[in-house]
Amino acid sequence: MKKRETIYRIFGRTLGRTNNKFSIKYYRELLLPFKVYKLSKKEKYILDIGSGYGETTLYLAHKYSNYKIIACEKYINGNFNLIKKIKQNSINNILIHNGNVHEILDKNEKYYFFDKVFIFFPDPWPKNKHNKRRLINFSFFTKIYEYVSHNGKIYIVTDSDLYKRSILNSIYETKHLFKWLNYSKLNLSVKDYFDLETKFYKKAIISKRKPTLFVLQKL
Ligand SMILES: C[S@@+](CC[C@H](N)C(=O)[O-])C[C@H]1O[C@@H](n2cnc3c(N)ncnc32)[C@H](O)[C@@H]1O
Repeated sequence: MKKRETIYRIFGRTLGRTNNKFSIKYYRELLLPFKVYKLSKKEKYILDIGSGYGETTLYLAHKYSNYKIIACEKYINGNFNLIKKIKQNSINNILIHNGNVHEILDKNEKYYFFDKVFIFFPDPWPKNKHNKRRLINFSFFTKIYEYVSHNGKIYIVTDSDLYKRSILNSIYETKHLFKWLNYSKLNLSVKDYFDLETKFYKKAIISKRKPTLFVLQKL
Protein backbone atom coordinates (compact mmCIF):
# COMPACT_ATOMS: atom_id res chain seq x y z
CA MET A 1 0.00 0.00 0.00
CA LYS A 2 1.29 3.45 -0.89
CA LYS A 3 2.14 5.78 2.00
CA ARG A 4 0.27 9.07 2.59
CA GLU A 5 3.49 10.99 1.85
CA THR A 6 3.69 9.36 -1.58
CA ILE A 7 0.05 9.74 -2.57
CA TYR A 8 -0.23 13.33 -1.40
CA ARG A 9 3.26 14.51 -2.18
CA ILE A 10 3.56 18.20 -3.10
CA PHE A 11 6.68 19.15 -5.03
CA GLY A 12 8.55 22.27 -3.98
CA ARG A 13 9.90 23.64 -0.74
CA THR A 14 8.62 22.58 2.70
CA LEU A 15 11.04 24.62 4.80
CA GLY A 16 12.76 27.99 4.26
CA ARG A 17 16.49 28.00 3.57
CA THR A 18 17.52 29.66 6.85
CA ASN A 19 15.38 27.60 9.21
CA ASN A 20 17.79 24.99 10.56
CA LYS A 21 16.72 24.93 14.23
CA PHE A 22 13.35 23.36 13.87
CA SER A 23 11.35 20.86 15.94
CA ILE A 24 8.67 18.92 14.08
CA LYS A 25 7.08 18.01 17.44
CA TYR A 26 6.68 21.70 18.33
CA TYR A 27 5.25 22.42 14.87
CA ARG A 28 2.69 19.62 15.17
CA GLU A 29 1.59 20.93 18.57
CA LEU A 30 1.20 24.43 17.17
CA LEU A 31 -0.96 23.12 14.34
CA LEU A 32 -3.27 21.05 16.57
CA PRO A 33 -5.88 23.74 17.39
CA PHE A 34 -6.24 24.48 13.67
CA LYS A 35 -6.45 20.92 12.42
CA VAL A 36 -9.09 20.08 9.81
CA TYR A 37 -11.20 17.11 10.87
CA LYS A 38 -14.29 15.93 8.98
CA LEU A 39 -16.05 18.79 7.24
CA SER A 40 -19.51 19.61 8.60
CA LYS A 41 -22.57 20.15 6.43
CA LYS A 42 -23.72 22.78 8.92
CA GLU A 43 -20.67 25.02 8.38
CA LYS A 44 -19.89 27.40 5.51
CA TYR A 45 -16.36 26.93 4.16
CA ILE A 46 -13.92 28.71 1.90
CA LEU A 47 -10.92 26.80 0.59
CA ASP A 48 -7.57 28.57 0.19
CA ILE A 49 -5.25 26.26 -1.75
CA GLY A 50 -1.51 26.89 -1.47
CA SER A 51 -1.80 29.64 1.12
CA GLY A 52 1.96 30.36 1.23
CA TYR A 53 2.59 32.85 4.04
CA GLY A 54 -1.13 33.04 4.77
CA GLU A 55 -1.85 36.49 3.33
CA THR A 56 -4.90 35.31 1.37
CA THR A 57 -6.19 33.30 4.32
CA LEU A 58 -5.97 36.26 6.70
CA TYR A 59 -7.63 38.53 4.15
CA LEU A 60 -10.45 36.04 3.57
CA ALA A 61 -10.97 35.43 7.30
CA HIS A 62 -11.55 39.15 7.77
CA LYS A 63 -13.64 39.69 4.62
CA TYR A 64 -15.83 36.62 5.11
CA SER A 65 -16.10 36.42 8.87
CA ASN A 66 -19.16 34.12 8.78
CA TYR A 67 -17.13 31.44 6.95
CA LYS A 68 -14.49 28.98 8.11
CA ILE A 69 -11.42 29.45 5.94
CA ILE A 70 -9.37 26.33 5.29
CA ALA A 71 -5.75 27.05 4.39
CA CYS A 72 -3.95 24.19 2.62
CA GLU A 73 -0.19 24.51 2.68
CA LYS A 74 2.80 22.31 3.45
CA TYR A 75 5.29 25.21 3.58
CA ILE A 76 6.21 25.24 7.26
CA ASN A 77 7.54 28.80 7.43
CA GLY A 78 4.33 29.99 5.81
CA ASN A 79 2.15 28.14 8.31
CA PHE A 80 4.27 29.45 11.20
CA ASN A 81 3.64 32.97 9.95
CA LEU A 82 -0.09 32.33 9.59
CA ILE A 83 -0.40 30.89 13.11
CA LYS A 84 1.52 33.86 14.54
CA LYS A 85 -0.88 36.31 12.88
CA ILE A 86 -3.96 34.30 13.90
CA LYS A 87 -2.82 34.49 17.54
CA GLN A 88 -1.81 38.16 17.41
CA ASN A 89 -5.19 39.13 15.99
CA SER A 90 -7.32 36.58 17.92
CA ILE A 91 -8.83 35.22 14.70
CA ASN A 92 -11.20 32.29 15.21
CA ASN A 93 -12.36 31.28 11.73
CA ILE A 94 -9.21 29.72 10.22
CA LEU A 95 -8.31 26.04 9.93
CA ILE A 96 -4.99 24.80 8.56
CA HIS A 97 -4.38 21.63 6.59
CA ASN A 98 -0.63 21.03 6.56
CA GLY A 99 -0.57 19.26 3.22
CA ASN A 100 -2.21 18.57 -0.09
CA VAL A 101 -5.73 19.80 -0.82
CA HIS A 102 -6.51 16.45 -2.48
CA GLU A 103 -6.27 14.81 0.94
CA ILE A 104 -9.12 16.97 2.27
CA LEU A 105 -11.25 16.24 -0.77
CA ASP A 106 -10.58 12.49 -0.69
CA LYS A 107 -11.30 12.20 3.04
CA ASN A 108 -14.67 13.88 2.80
CA GLU A 109 -17.79 12.78 0.99
CA LYS A 110 -18.67 14.56 -2.23
CA TYR A 111 -20.81 17.42 -1.00
CA TYR A 112 -21.03 21.11 -1.84
CA PHE A 113 -18.98 22.28 1.18
CA PHE A 114 -17.22 25.22 -0.51
CA ASP A 115 -18.86 28.46 -1.60
CA LYS A 116 -15.51 29.83 -2.73
CA VAL A 117 -12.17 28.33 -3.66
CA PHE A 118 -9.03 30.48 -3.92
CA ILE A 119 -5.87 29.46 -5.75
CA PHE A 120 -3.44 32.37 -5.77
CA PHE A 121 -0.25 31.79 -7.74
CA PRO A 122 -0.22 28.01 -8.02
CA ASP A 123 3.28 26.71 -8.78
CA PRO A 124 3.63 27.09 -12.57
CA TRP A 125 6.10 24.23 -13.21
CA PRO A 126 7.22 25.74 -16.54
CA LYS A 127 9.40 22.85 -17.73
CA ASN A 128 7.59 20.41 -20.02
CA LYS A 129 8.77 17.42 -18.01
CA HIS A 130 7.15 18.91 -14.84
CA ASN A 131 3.76 19.78 -16.38
CA LYS A 132 2.09 16.89 -14.55
CA ARG A 133 2.89 18.54 -11.23
CA ARG A 134 0.53 21.42 -11.93
CA LEU A 135 -2.52 21.52 -9.71
CA ILE A 136 -4.99 22.94 -12.22
CA ASN A 137 -6.11 20.78 -15.10
CA PHE A 138 -9.21 19.02 -16.41
CA SER A 139 -9.08 16.35 -13.74
CA PHE A 140 -8.77 18.91 -10.90
CA PHE A 141 -11.76 20.90 -12.17
CA THR A 142 -13.92 17.80 -12.50
CA LYS A 143 -12.96 16.72 -8.98
CA ILE A 144 -13.42 20.07 -7.21
CA TYR A 145 -16.76 20.50 -9.02
CA GLU A 146 -18.23 17.86 -6.71
CA TYR A 147 -17.34 19.92 -3.61
CA VAL A 148 -18.31 23.44 -4.73
CA SER A 149 -21.78 24.76 -3.97
CA HIS A 150 -24.22 25.67 -6.74
CA ASN A 151 -23.15 29.07 -8.12
CA GLY A 152 -20.00 28.76 -5.99
CA LYS A 153 -16.88 30.45 -7.31
CA ILE A 154 -13.27 29.55 -7.99
CA TYR A 155 -10.71 32.35 -8.10
CA ILE A 156 -7.38 31.57 -9.73
CA VAL A 157 -4.47 33.98 -10.15
CA THR A 158 -1.30 33.32 -12.10
CA ASP A 159 1.45 35.42 -13.65
CA SER A 160 2.82 32.57 -15.78
CA ASP A 161 1.90 32.86 -19.47
CA LEU A 162 2.33 29.11 -19.95
CA TYR A 163 0.06 28.32 -17.03
CA LYS A 164 -2.50 30.91 -18.20
CA ARG A 165 -2.71 29.10 -21.53
CA SER A 166 -3.08 25.71 -19.91
CA ILE A 167 -5.73 27.04 -17.47
CA LEU A 168 -7.65 28.53 -20.41
CA ASN A 169 -7.55 25.15 -22.07
CA SER A 170 -8.92 23.45 -18.94
CA ILE A 171 -11.64 26.12 -18.63
CA TYR A 172 -12.66 25.32 -22.20
CA GLU A 173 -12.63 21.57 -21.52
CA THR A 174 -14.88 22.00 -18.48
CA LYS A 175 -17.24 24.65 -19.85
CA HIS A 176 -20.17 22.35 -19.09
CA LEU A 177 -19.21 22.52 -15.39
CA PHE A 178 -18.01 26.09 -14.82
CA LYS A 179 -18.80 29.43 -16.42
CA TRP A 180 -15.85 31.78 -16.86
CA LEU A 181 -17.29 35.01 -15.45
CA ASN A 182 -14.60 37.62 -16.10
CA TYR A 183 -13.53 36.77 -19.65
CA SER A 184 -13.39 40.45 -20.62
CA LYS A 185 -9.92 41.99 -20.81
CA LEU A 186 -11.23 44.83 -18.65
CA ASN A 187 -11.61 42.82 -15.46
CA LEU A 188 -8.83 40.25 -15.42
CA SER A 189 -6.89 42.09 -12.73
CA VAL A 190 -6.74 40.90 -9.10
CA LYS A 191 -7.40 44.46 -7.94
CA ASP A 192 -10.75 44.49 -9.76
CA TYR A 193 -11.95 42.06 -7.12
CA PHE A 194 -9.58 42.03 -4.14
CA ASP A 195 -7.58 44.63 -2.29
CA LEU A 196 -4.81 42.15 -1.66
CA GLU A 197 -1.12 41.77 -2.50
CA THR A 198 0.51 38.46 -1.63
CA LYS A 199 4.26 37.80 -1.69
CA PHE A 200 3.98 36.27 -5.15
CA TYR A 201 1.80 39.12 -6.38
CA LYS A 202 4.48 41.63 -5.38
CA LYS A 203 7.20 39.49 -6.97
CA ALA A 204 5.23 39.40 -10.23
CA ILE A 205 4.73 43.18 -10.29
CA ILE A 206 8.43 43.86 -9.56
CA SER A 207 9.38 41.48 -12.39
CA LYS A 208 6.84 43.17 -14.71
CA ARG A 209 4.78 40.00 -15.10
CA LYS A 210 1.06 40.65 -15.17
CA PRO A 211 -1.01 38.55 -12.77
CA THR A 212 -4.29 37.42 -14.36
CA LEU A 213 -7.35 36.54 -12.33
CA PHE A 214 -9.78 33.90 -13.57
CA VAL A 215 -13.20 33.88 -11.90
CA LEU A 216 -15.23 30.73 -12.52
CA GLN A 217 -18.74 29.95 -11.37
CA LYS A 218 -20.17 26.49 -10.93
CA LEU A 219 -23.10 25.84 -13.27
C1 LIG B 1 3.82 29.94 -5.53
S1 LIG B 1 3.20 29.61 -3.93
C2 LIG B 1 1.94 30.83 -3.76
C3 LIG B 1 1.65 31.19 -2.32
C4 LIG B 1 0.54 32.23 -2.09
N1 LIG B 1 -0.74 31.76 -2.57
C5 LIG B 1 0.86 33.56 -2.66
O1 LIG B 1 0.09 34.06 -3.50
O2 LIG B 1 1.86 34.17 -2.24
C6 LIG B 1 2.28 28.12 -4.21
C7 LIG B 1 2.05 27.30 -2.94
O3 LIG B 1 1.12 26.27 -3.21
C8 LIG B 1 1.44 25.15 -2.40
N2 LIG B 1 0.82 23.97 -3.04
C9 LIG B 1 1.14 23.44 -4.25
N3 LIG B 1 0.36 22.38 -4.53
C10 LIG B 1 -0.50 22.25 -3.47
C11 LIG B 1 -1.55 21.33 -3.17
N4 LIG B 1 -1.85 20.34 -3.99
N5 LIG B 1 -2.22 21.48 -1.99
C12 LIG B 1 -1.89 22.49 -1.15
N6 LIG B 1 -0.90 23.39 -1.39
C13 LIG B 1 -0.22 23.27 -2.53
C14 LIG B 1 2.96 25.12 -2.38
O4 LIG B 1 3.45 24.47 -1.24
C15 LIG B 1 3.32 26.61 -2.44
O5 LIG B 1 3.64 27.12 -1.17
